[in-house]
Amino acid sequence: MAGLIPQSFINDLIDRADIVDVVGSRVTLKKSGKNYSGLCPFHDEKSPSFSVSPDKQFFHCFGCQESGSALTFLMKYERMEFVEAVEALAKDLGLAVPREKSNRNYVEVDQRIFQALEKAERVYKQELRTMPAAVDYLKGRSLTGVTARDFGIGYAPEGWHCLSEILQEKGVSAEVMLKAGLTIKNDSGRVYDRFRHRIMFPIRDVRGRVIGFGGRKLGDEEGPKYLNSPETPVFAKNQELYGLYEARKALRNIDRLLVVEGYMDVVALAQRGFPNAVATLGTATGEAHYQKLYRYTDEVVCCFDGDKAGRAAAWRALESALPVLNEHRQLKFVFLPDGEDPDSLVRDQGAEAFATFLQNATPGIEYLFSKLGEGLDLQSLDGRARFMGLANPYVEKIPAGILQDLVKKRVREIGGMDFGSVRPARVESRPRANSSNDAQFGSVLAQRLIAMLLKAPNLWQTLNSDVQKQLLAHQQELGALGRLVSLLNAQPQADTNEILIAWPEEVEQHRLIELAKKPMASNAQAWQQELLDGSMHLLRLRERSVRQQRIAELKASGEEDKLRDLLPSKTRSGDSASEV
Ligand code: UTP
Ligand code: MN
Repeated sequence: MAGLIPQSFINDLIDRADIVDVVGSRVTLKKSGKNYSGLCPFHDEKSPSFSVSPDKQFFHCFGCQESGSALTFLMKYERMEFVEAVEALAKDLGLAVPREKSNRNYVEVDQRIFQALEKAERVYKQELRTMPAAVDYLKGRSLTGVTARDFGIGYAPEGWHCLSEILQEKGVSAEVMLKAGLTIKNDSGRVYDRFRHRIMFPIRDVRGRVIGFGGRKLGDEEGPKYLNSPETPVFAKNQELYGLYEARKALRNIDRLLVVEGYMDVVALAQRGFPNAVATLGTATGEAHYQKLYRYTDEVVCCFDGDKAGRAAAWRALESALPVLNEHRQLKFVFLPDGEDPDSLVRDQGAEAFATFLQNATPGIEYLFSKLGEGLDLQSLDGRARFMGLANPYVEKIPAGILQDLVKKRVREIGGMDFGSVRPARVESRPRANSSNDAQFGSVLAQRLIAMLLKAPNLWQTLNSDVQKQLLAHQQELGALGRLVSLLNAQPQADTNEILIAWPEEVEQHRLIELAKKPMASNAQAWQQELLDGSMHLLRLRERSVRQQRIAELKASGEEDKLRDLLPSKTRSGDSASEV
């Protein structure tokens, strides 16, 4: 077998390759703004929703959601395996693919280590049965026998060589025990059992193999409360999560995973109906943990203590999660009352109470913004500028894509750079002015204006500035059109695809994509005039319907004397109420 391709070469390759070349030699691309667009090769379409960004070295299709780097493109388009795609890309660039001499960087894991750990697990489980004090300890913590069995909880006997002697009889060599982290060699060369007189929690990889242990002391004995296996050839703490195997075993589909701090939290939650909890192993939740978590679920909820340490941990957790987030991956935070952990909470207050905390979890991005805004006066120009400065490095950590665009947009809104902020959630629930459909997405006129602006975003800049201002001032009432003009105002260079990416509302986004795809006979000059006339007409309709509504309200409440304030200023002195 050929040796491994060094990672450094793969990084170098991605750096050197230009995705526009790679895609462009297989798909016809047209420049549109900063990006290139074309017909998506991964699904059937008649108008282009496939976009390639040279800045981000990334492709994305709005129709089928395929996306990725030059390498991913090759793998998908040419149906290549990773190594084949690397070789093809290297060939295009005239580079030879270096191979590491096999077995130099890649050492086959010693299977005897897994075997030793598995045997140790059996010994610990067996020992638990013969040690009433350990069973009592577990009972005292309300653990049932079923839970103890499901998690393979055991007991490491007291004495310096209990485990090693039993394992030796079972044919495990002293060398393998040491490698597996089951024994320790001190400076004077003496070897003894690492775990003594402790409750043992076996840690498994996702395939269910035991890769290490966590051991809790039973009482106030000397030594740390928990002792964990050291890093070994089979156990990397920054990768592994306690309880992930058990969660996968219990659940067919994992809607969400809960990240908690301790072994006991995982076990207690599972017993109370939350089989989806996992814990890091005495380390902070790092990027590799998230990579793994999101392989099995789309939603991760991190549960922390509400105290200062818990909040600090949550912030670190958020920072490490940002590089793996995207629009499909949700991250949330739960802060428990000071001094409680999930174990104590479900025990004292019940599963319902914990479920309520989960329901009220704070979305990660919201948490990010609230932390960044802490102590800043966001009403002041100064505070907003500082906010934007603080936010930027975090936003940059999110991978380029829809989520990052949305977050960027939100930062600009909070920073006050997005004139007239876009608030999709509110617009939907607003009462419509009058019952007429005049100013809403549904009106034929509004749709026509949206379609023109979407297809030719630069038309916005040709619009008379008074009309621009009025549209922006009334964007809240203008529904989708209002959101579109606000976006165009904030990002005058945006092309059709960028507008669609940045669109804040999913249902509307789909409608807009449809709208953008519809063919329309275009004539730049005619459109320019039509946009101006149409906008003015729409604004007049809006004004009229607002006035009619107000009149109806005043009449209904018997305040007809106030009607005169509503008349257009020119006619205010006359009695032309009937005209409105
Ligand atoms: P905590 O100190 O919060 O304990 O440690 P806990 O989980 O509530 O434990 P109980 O309920 O008292 O049994 C949380 C996690 O930190 C790691 C362990 O992984 C533990 O589950 N830890 C803690 C250690 O590795 N060593 C320690 O001495 C303490
Ligand atoms: Mn606890």
